[in-house]
Amino acid sequence: MIRLANPFAFDGYRALVTGGTRGIGRAIASALAAHGASVVANYARDDRAADETRQAIEDAGGTVEIVKANVGNPDDVHQLVETARRSGTIDVIVHCAAVGTFKRATAVRANQWDLTMNVCARALLLLAEHAGPHLTDGRGRILSLSSRGSTRVLPDYGAIGSAKGALESLTRYLAVEFAPRGITVNALAPGMVEGTSIAGHPDFQSLAADARTDTPVGRLASVDDVVPLALFLCSPAAAWIVGETIVADGGHSLCL
Ligand SMILES: NC(=O)c1ccc[n+]([C@@H]2O[C@H](COP(=O)([O-])OP(=O)(O)OC[C@H]3O[C@@H](n4cnc5c(N)ncnc54)[C@H](OP(=O)(O)O)[C@@H]3O)[C@@H](O)[C@H]2O)c1
Repeated sequence: MIRLANPFAFDGYRALVTGGTRGIGRAIASALAAHGASVVANYARDDRAADETRQAIEDAGGTVEIVKANVGNPDDVHQLVETARRSGTIDVIVHCAAVGTFKRATAVRANQWDLTMNVCARALLLLAEHAGPHLTDGRGRILSLSSRGSTRVLPDYGAIGSAKGALESLTRYLAVEFAPRGITVNALAPGMVEGTSIAGHPDFQSLAADARTDTPVGRLASVDDVVPLALFLCSPAAAWIVGETIVADGGHSLCL
């Protein structure tokens, strides 16, 4: 009979979470720390949110290092990885950082396109390139946060949706390259998550109302729905999931 290990035991793990100081990234960083990982949580601008994240994780008994670095900048990504690997190997990378203005595709300016693509998609490539040699064979994991807007057309989501499409495609290519080492690369696409930056969308109220109506579960996601899925995908229990984008949206996509 198979005896299953606890998939949420991350003692002895080193984890790097980009965009780890707000929203979903903060929740994942906090949960990884609470389950034993030594966490590097990255952010770009919001020092106050970063301080609050550090305090909350430490108050809960976790170990965290907060690193300010713009993952849209290749040198910053390199430095971020160097910091994360200082004490040895890296076991888990969760790429949550994202930025973008809510606009229809033809209204996106070239500089906005570049920024969104670089932070969402190119950063994943650079993280994989720099951290790849330092990822632990056998249990290394790279997980990115994606979005349903990668394959569906959401209002005013032209740049972010396109960047998430690139991220998902890159996830498949990286997954094939890393698989022989027992390192998995996957993405997770939740539906709209209550209490996060999606509330800044100009039509948030009507989009959220429609999503509640069209989602069989009858509500938006909370970060508490996303965190266990993310930790599972970062765990040894998910070793056979390779290059996938896992859609977990309460059934919303089934009903569109
Ligand atoms: N929210 C949703 O409903 C939803 C749904 C599907 C997918 N997602 C995806 O889930 C992820 C997290 O979303 P969220 O809404 O929780 O995010 P959020 O609240 O907007 O937080 C974004 C995080 O990324 C950091 N960040 C932004 N630009 C960065 C850069 N250039 N370099 C480094 N860090 C940077 C931010 O740092 P600062 O605080 O310093 O700005 C912050 O920590 C994103 O990839 C998003 O696309 C979200």
